[in-house]
Amino acid sequence: MKILWFAVFWLGLTLSHVEGGVYDGFKIYELATKSRSTGVNLLLSELVKNESYYDLYSDNGAAAHIMVHPEAQPEFIELLTGHTLSYKIVNHDVGLTLRRQFETNRMLRNWYPYQGRLGTERYYSQEEINQYIEQLAQEHPSRVFIKTVGKSYEGRWLKTIRITNGDGRANKNVILMDGGFHAREWISPAAVVYAIGELVNNYEAHAQLLLDYDWVILPVVNADGYEYTQLSEDTRFWRKTRQPSSVECIGTDPNRNFGFHWNETGASSDPCAETYAGPRAFSEPEAIVVRDLIHSLADRGKMYLTVHSYGNYILYPWGYIDELPDTWEDLDEVGRAGGDAIKKATNTTYQVGCSTTLLYAAAGASDDYAFNAGFPISFTMELPAGGPDFFDPPASDIDRLVKETWVGIEAMARKVIEKYPLN
Ligand code: ARG
Ligand code: ZN
Repeated sequence: MKILWFAVFWLGLTLSHVEGGVYDGFKIYELATKSRSTGVNLLLSELVKNESYYDLYSDNGAAAHIMVHPEAQPEFIELLTGHTLSYKIVNHDVGLTLRRQFETNRMLRNWYPYQGRLGTERYYSQEEINQYIEQLAQEHPSRVFIKTVGKSYEGRWLKTIRITNGDGRANKNVILMDGGFHAREWISPAAVVYAIGELVNNYEAHAQLLLDYDWVILPVVNADGYEYTQLSEDTRFWRKTRQPSSVECIGTDPNRNFGFHWNETGASSDPCAETYAGPRAFSEPEAIVVRDLIHSLADRGKMYLTVHSYGNYILYPWGYIDELPDTWEDLDEVGRAGGDAIKKATNTTYQVGCSTTLLYAAAGASDDYAFNAGFPISFTMELPAGGPDFFDPPASDIDRLVKETWVGIEAMARKVIEKYPLN
């Protein structure tokens, strides 16, 4: 298998086109957070507001990743050296790495065409994922049920898969899971699809997970955005939905569009910004779909889990304010079960804690919304970074990452089932 992957990489290298793409010459810088003063942080936050020049990927206790336009690199370096900030260039040419990847992905699609099952060899389109879950339902009509829960802005069907053990008992508790909120976070739908496969095909081994609980899963929330990122290397870093937000700009951040303390903090009112909250809460059909799912399951729902990337976090409310809910210890206990299980299985470290304290405050996200609506456990899970651009684990890493993620999901589900028995 090693040799095969090498061949894929090498072919990708030699076949990649030579024409330029919009990310040619972009670099990604890593800044250590430790060495930054408040003044520098302020400067940086001003700088990254210019989103055509800067893309702040993530900023946490350890480091920040900032992708910088070639024209802005001189001023950026000047700023860093002026403040004696240490930095590291972690990608010297984003355009080049993206082109290679697209070539590799194209070949993988030819080598592994959709044949009724989804493995971990490559990333899949939203349509393939829909086909796959439909097929699972046909193969297991007593255990697996598909429901069309809405349509994306561009008209893609959003479908949930409900996985049961087939005993026909109604009104079980529910675990609600979704993926693909943010378009570029490709490992998220992959991890969710893997979890579906485990629960459906490996259900005897997971009998406990399905005894008193049903699982309801929406694999790709932001279907339009996800498809858009698959079109070309120029669109690979799209995050938002695809509904026009103004005359010049497209898209709303679906994870800032929920009607709970909407647009109060950590979101933007600028339709062109990456974290645009939308013209009003629930302006996006995709957010409405998740909202309605949450409400329809709130009386039985015990855990809501939304899968993002990246950063290695299991985050719990509140995410709109620097405060913990009264029941934070329950959230912490379940989150820790996930983090500990992953640590034990693969030695990967996840940080478990409150969204606002660990990461940043951001209002209008689905986790706070579900928690407020009655899910006693609600998490945003940020999977590990991968690939030269952090949002792009190479296809050869999918298998490892989704299996690791499942270890965490399973451990959290077990803890939830133990803490919230069916009454
Ligand atoms: N990276 C996620 C986002 O920006 C984190 C969301 C965490 N939840 C929250 N309510 N702030 O959407
Ligand atoms: Zn995300």
